[in-house]
Amino acid sequence: MRHPFRSLALGVLGTAVAAGALVPAASAAPPEHSHGHQDTLRRQAPRDLEIGSAAWGQRDLTGYDKHDPTDYQRVLAREFGSITPENDMKWAEIHPEPGVYDFSGADAVMDFARAHHQEVRGHTLLWHSQNPQWVIDASDDWTCQEARDVLEDHVRTVVGRYAGEIYEWDVANEIFQDDWDTGGVRLRTEANPFLKACAEDPVALIGDTFRWAHEVDPKARLFLNDYNAEGVNTKTDAYYALAQELLADGVPLHGFGAQGHLSLMYGFDTSIQANFERFAALGLDVAVTEADVRVPIPDGQDGPTAEQVTLHAERHDAMLEACLAVPSCTSFTVWGFPDANSWVPDVFPGEDWATIFTDDFGPKPAYHAMLASLREATPGVSPRSGR
Ligand code: G3I
Repeated sequence: MRHPFRSLALGVLGTAVAAGALVPAASAAPPEHSHGHQDTLRRQAPRDLEIGSAAWGQRDLTGYDKHDPTDYQRVLAREFGSITPENDMKWAEIHPEPGVYDFSGADAVMDFARAHHQEVRGHTLLWHSQNPQWVIDASDDWTCQEARDVLEDHVRTVVGRYAGEIYEWDVANEIFQDDWDTGGVRLRTEANPFLKACAEDPVALIGDTFRWAHEVDPKARLFLNDYNAEGVNTKTDAYYALAQELLADGVPLHGFGAQGHLSLMYGFDTSIQANFERFAALGLDVAVTEADVRVPIPDGQDGPTAEQVTLHAERHDAMLEACLAVPSCTSFTVWGFPDANSWVPDVFPGEDWATIFTDDFGPKPAYHAMLASLREATPGVSPRSGR
């Protein structure tokens, strides 16, 4: 249930921020990270819920100097208990040539996380995007067995390198098409090079990918992950059926991740909690894995309106509240910060302001709404009941 006071407060705050009147508390360089600094997302989160952010190790964390951190690095360490490598563990970055692995970006994320007692979400092992050219070229001639051999080597090498240190893996990412794609909601047996080579039985390949990951890292919780997967819809119906099939076959599937890439151009799907609850009823963890809320900002408008600022906050908070309401929701990750680092403007021209921090690391009303919800959910930062 929306908290009426918070909506009003967000309205007032939103007006001030949009008007430039309110200089957010941390609009200067963020305060020194102090262990006593209690009022942060990671410290206000329940003990059984990790609050995370994506970070691009190659861009943001290489050369990290604990005696001279960047403002970005200080906020990442201060606010988040979990990091997802935004690109560093994707095929194109970590496996650029056949038999050649480049762990530099991923290692930078792992080193930073170790230094700041943060968890790491692995991302991602099986996806139709960001595959290196050698995979794209070779896959045209692959037999299914050849595809399986390449994928198995990759999974065992990458998952094995960080075994015991990754708490959740996005094993299979965006493996279903959308309603609006040719053929509607079905497995991506054309766009995904591995599913394409094994189009006769793609579910068997998906299941084995989870099995290989589980064999080399029995501790990691293994997830399906996708966008447009927040509410109950034809796509999540397909994931729900796939999850049942995989579980019935004894596949070590442990979680379902909804990416949470929203836009104010569309409404908010209020069936998000019901969707989380149905996957939880299968015995799965759920997670919000890549939350951001794109804001349409037309040419000539130099920033969000007060109403857009309020809606941006409400949408972030609504996703977090759905996660807090379902004890099986184990992590909530925002897809990077500040706005200057966001993928959104490159992909959605005319939309921006998607993250929870401004470019001078000022926390937006969305940050304050999330902090308030975390503070309200667990007095004393205790675990939620009901797991
Ligand atoms: O690494 C090259 C670099 O060598 C080159 O100089 C540069 C030139 O533009 O490109 C770099 O590659 C970029 C790549 O990120 C880095 O790995 C690509 O241009 C860029 O398009 C790519 O964007 C990423 C996008 O996934 C690719 O689909 C975004 O940073 C990343 O935030 C985004 O994240 C995805 C999730 O993984 C899955 N869910 C959707 C989400 C948004 O698309």
